[in-house]
Amino acid sequence: MSIVDDIPDAIKTVPKAAVERDLGKEVESRRTFAIISHPDAGKTTLTEKLLYYGGAIQEAGAVRARRGAKSATSDWMEMEKQRGISISSTALSFAYKNFTLNLLDTPGHADFSEDTYRTVSAADNAVMLIDSAKGLEPQTRKLFEVCRLNGLPIFTFCNKMDRPALEPLELLDQIESEFNLPTYAVNWPIGSGDTFKGVYHRPRREVHLFNAEAKDGKAKKGEDKSTKGLEVLSVDDEKLESLIGAELHAQLMEDIELLDELGGELDLQAVHDGELTPVFFGSGMNNFGVQLFLDSFLGYSVRPRGRDLLGGDRVEPTDEGFTGFVFKLQANMDPRHRDKVAFVRVVSGRFERGMRVTNARTKKAVLLSRPSQMFGQDKTVLDEGFAGDVIGLNNPGSFAIGDTLYMGSRKVLPPIPTFSPELFAYLRNSDTGKYKQFQKGVQELLGEGAVQVMYSRDAVKQDPILAAVGQLQFEVVQARMLAEYGVETTLEPLPFAVARWVVGGWDAIDAAGRIFNAQCVKDIWGQPVLLFKNQWNVDQIVADTPEIGELSPFSIP
Ligand code: G4P
Repeated sequence: MSIVDDIPDAIKTVPKAAVERDLGKEVESRRTFAIISHPDAGKTTLTEKLLYYGGAIQEAGAVRARRGAKSATSDWMEMEKQRGISISSTALSFAYKNFTLNLLDTPGHADFSEDTYRTVSAADNAVMLIDSAKGLEPQTRKLFEVCRLNGLPIFTFCNKMDRPALEPLELLDQIESEFNLPTYAVNWPIGSGDTFKGVYHRPRREVHLFNAEAKDGKAKKGEDKSTKGLEVLSVDDEKLESLIGAELHAQLMEDIELLDELGGELDLQAVHDGELTPVFFGSGMNNFGVQLFLDSFLGYSVRPRGRDLLGGDRVEPTDEGFTGFVFKLQANMDPRHRDKVAFVRVVSGRFERGMRVTNARTKKAVLLSRPSQMFGQDKTVLDEGFAGDVIGLNNPGSFAIGDTLYMGSRKVLPPIPTFSPELFAYLRNSDTGKYKQFQKGVQELLGEGAVQVMYSRDAVKQDPILAAVGQLQFEVVQARMLAEYGVETTLEPLPFAVARWVVGGWDAIDAAGRIFNAQCVKDIWGQPVLLFKNQWNVDQIVADTPEIGELSPFSIP
């Protein structure tokens, strides 16, 4: 008899309330999304405005204060001790126009880590925020790849139009040519910087005029914010020319003609398939174009999606049995309270406080106690949740990244892929007397997804190679090895910056023979990975050694 069979039938049955509740409505009214951007593009500012529209914050500035306190590495550990911070930095929930929006945070700067990538896999939609003066930047590129891998619809917001910006066509061209992602401009800027006059909203053929003096972030509750600080008029209105000037007016008419020639209606199916991105222009700081964007986003974005299960079945968000998966574990750095928070993305059914579910990996029953959620500014205890919601569980220890939790018949979601790390280092144990603790620490931190671990091909008792996307991941591993396992470690950096999984496996490696300018290692699943100094070396191998076959920036578990 397996452990699963030991679970009493009462636990396996779906709670009655779930049947009574209209799951379809709950799912339909939810939107779960992540904002992907390069640091400084204005994500904090935009988040603040979005929360403001949801009535979740009264004053602009609340999010910024939190971010400011979080930015330094040394503060980070300190902040982790404070209740609620881990929740706030992972998922924010707010209500807007009968919708529940779940905004997943993708940290930037120094705390950029694989968590950032995994968080994207818990989203259903992505908002790509671009600084219009700078265009596409490295972190946006990386996160875009992850969105594409996850098949997410991508919505583009070109920010900071109140500053001198690249030509809108140039921005669209960058997205199309670099990402091979066709664009559809839903609105179109009229000038930029000092001459920024507003946007033309194509679906309604309206011009929304920008007034830098009136920052509608200060609009009162209940006030129609869509017209606060701006005037809306038809593009055919005679007043328009005198309001924006003859030159910009002529340019706008020309642009409209061009846009209409490029394409008429927005193809929503293509948006949902991640094959077309609707593009918006505005200024987060001036709160201009944000509500226009938000309203369109609600209309165009996808509700929480179903997922394929291992073994061929599929789970739909409206299925009554609860299913969810752990996408992030956040450890408390304080050795006195070793509590951790496991973040679970609900995939199907109804989550209920105190419910018992099964962890597919350990096959054990787990009580979902003390679940919490960040609603606006307040951490709240969550009584129920539906597909698309994120819940923070305070009783882990029994969870690892990628774990499926379910009720009813056994369900296993595929593992979250790991992504190409960019920093590599041997982790050396400075105290050989602590070999066991060292191994245990590495295994546990690996299970939590704190870092990726690789080994030399024929390694026996060899030091692990840590692989990360952000420097902070290394620091966290070293600090925790010392604090939690009592092992002093040193790092020996390796001169690599790119990892590629060999899709053809060891056969392809053997067929390729000697590979120059790369080191071959294996990942935790025993799959071959090639480490390179740079992309140029990757291209060289692909060109010179066809036997190696396909190389992938993502793991193939
Ligand atoms: P991030 O979270 O993506 O890193 O960006 P954040 O919102 O912190 O914005 C980065 C900087 O860009 C901030 O300026 C912010 O005020 C500014 N910014 C954001 N949106 C706009 C916009 O629409 N127009 C203009 N002109 N600036 C914008 P800072 O000087 O770094 O900080 P602060 O002194 O303004 O707080």
